[in-house]
Amino acid sequence: MPLPEGFLNELRERADIVDLFSTYAAVKKRGRTYVCCCPFHSEKTPSCTIYPDNQSFYCFGCGAGGSTITFVQRMENLSFMDAVRTLAQRVGMQMPLQDSQEARQANVRRRCYEINREAANFYYLNLLQGTDKRGLQYFRQRRLSPATIKAYGLGYAPDDWNALRDHLKQKGYSEQELVTAGVCRSSAKGNVFDQFRGRVMFPIVDLQGSVIGFGGRVLDDSKPKYLNTNETPVFDKGSNLFSLHFAKNASTNTLILAEGYMDVIALYQAGFPNAVATLGTAITSAQARKLSQYAREIVIAYDSDTAGQTATQRALNRFSEVGLPARILKMEGAKDPDEYIRTFGADSFRRLVEQAGDAINFQLDKCKDGLDLSTEQGKDELLRRSVAVLAGIENSLQREVYTSRTAREMDVRVEVLRQTVDAAVLRQQRAAKKIQFHAIESRSLQRDELNPLSQKFPRESRAEQMILAYLLRNPEDHEMLWESLSPSDFVTDLHRRIYLAVCEQCREHRQFSLPLLEETFTVEEMGRISGIAARSQELPVSRDALEECIRVLKAAHSRVLPGETMTDDDLLQVVANQRKKQ
Ligand code: UTP
Ligand code: MN
Repeated sequence: MPLPEGFLNELRERADIVDLFSTYAAVKKRGRTYVCCCPFHSEKTPSCTIYPDNQSFYCFGCGAGGSTITFVQRMENLSFMDAVRTLAQRVGMQMPLQDSQEARQANVRRRCYEINREAANFYYLNLLQGTDKRGLQYFRQRRLSPATIKAYGLGYAPDDWNALRDHLKQKGYSEQELVTAGVCRSSAKGNVFDQFRGRVMFPIVDLQGSVIGFGGRVLDDSKPKYLNTNETPVFDKGSNLFSLHFAKNASTNTLILAEGYMDVIALYQAGFPNAVATLGTAITSAQARKLSQYAREIVIAYDSDTAGQTATQRALNRFSEVGLPARILKMEGAKDPDEYIRTFGADSFRRLVEQAGDAINFQLDKCKDGLDLSTEQGKDELLRRSVAVLAGIENSLQREVYTSRTAREMDVRVEVLRQTVDAAVLRQQRAAKKIQFHAIESRSLQRDELNPLSQKFPRESRAEQMILAYLLRNPEDHEMLWESLSPSDFVTDLHRRIYLAVCEQCREHRQFSLPLLEETFTVEEMGRISGIAARSQELPVSRDALEECIRVLKAAHSRVLPGETMTDDDLLQVVANQRKKQ
């Protein structure tokens, strides 16, 4: 069911592309455009450009592009309709009538949220008012105050197979719905029973403040210690973080990443509302990216055991990918932040946060693992490992600082170490260049899936792109262009479709804007179109060049005057000459 055009127009007017980007990435103004690090691939220098003029964006690094709706589609991995809905909600617009299947899906999600909220409430009341006081005793023994229990809505699941099931059925939820929401499970025989029994409950809350799932801990040493909600229509372990809804409002740019729910809660109670944890899994790229939206830096406060240290290294990699600086907190005399605060107090922990060293120190320290430094062999190996770490430091000044410090510590001459490190840097750079070169090479050899004929007719395809670039920049010339160039003159299919659609829009609306194409083209095709538009902003196509391009296409069809067709180089030459004149 198509959406009314008026609705989409209003939506596009209200949802500004720069605003939208700003919620996902740090956006910087550069002349009439904006730039940011691309939210669709990991990079450290910005190659994504936002064009407020035509409400579009294009990443020169990965080729993602489009306008507001395409952006939401890609970012949240949604269909066109769902992206429209998300955007509408964001700017406070009521959606027009939905079709039945979508309405059903929306309904399932809504019921999941309700059930999770009801369940959280049930566990909470049962903790405080139930006859079985073991849950409350457990939290007391772990020194949680009533205020903390309330803030997190902690609860206790009765030691009973059906308590929650019966409670929620009575409230009008079906057994199937309870299973879908993840609070109940269904046995092989089809009996539905409570997922969490006799456990203290940690509700997991999303950024909108809705309960989406739970972690449940046993009261003793039985296994599994924690049980977490399985994936549901509203719960995804890999993209949510425990307590981020509190941490994002803490008045600091530093977020603390801990391993466990109890660590985060203990930190909160000790005056660190800026702590978060993953949901029982290693940190994912999606979570790192999400944290980078709310923090300038991360302090990793994982457990002090080996597992925690290995996890720290992995987390560092995730943060480095998204360009979020991370420091590593070193704890001695306690296994995790919860235990540390109980033993040494909040002030001590605050000092640990302040003193947390950077990733390089952590990695240099780790080089010593498993080595006997009293032997020559051990020292050699340490030197070898340290050189690899030092060579990996991108900033050359920083590299120098660490290199001379390491030289001092290992008692080797700094000139010698510097030379070795520099040689390793060169090697790494060469290897990186090679990889980059291979990537470009293999990309140009790849088939163009979106526009298959462009591979076969590169010259014509390029001419077409330049014509489209001209048209996108000068839509008022569409009539003039249409008279001299018909769609059938186009050689490649996608370019012909773009030409048709743009000219049609110009005729119908007496004006043109890129977002109007979103309904006609796929997300990938929009990327291609935005790329053409973006290049035309950076490098405008002149009238002369346009005419040359038209000739290329005409010639391709008639093949009467093959000598007149241009090579790629000829075309580029024309453009370059034009630029000099301007
Ligand atoms: P920990 O065992 O370090 O948890 O596991 P913790 O929070 O310190 O627990 P306490 O102090 O013993 O009560 C860290 C995290 O790993 C996940 C949970 O998210 C936990 O908070 N985990 C752990 C599971 O998902 N399942 C398990 O069986 C154990
Ligand atoms: Mn613990």
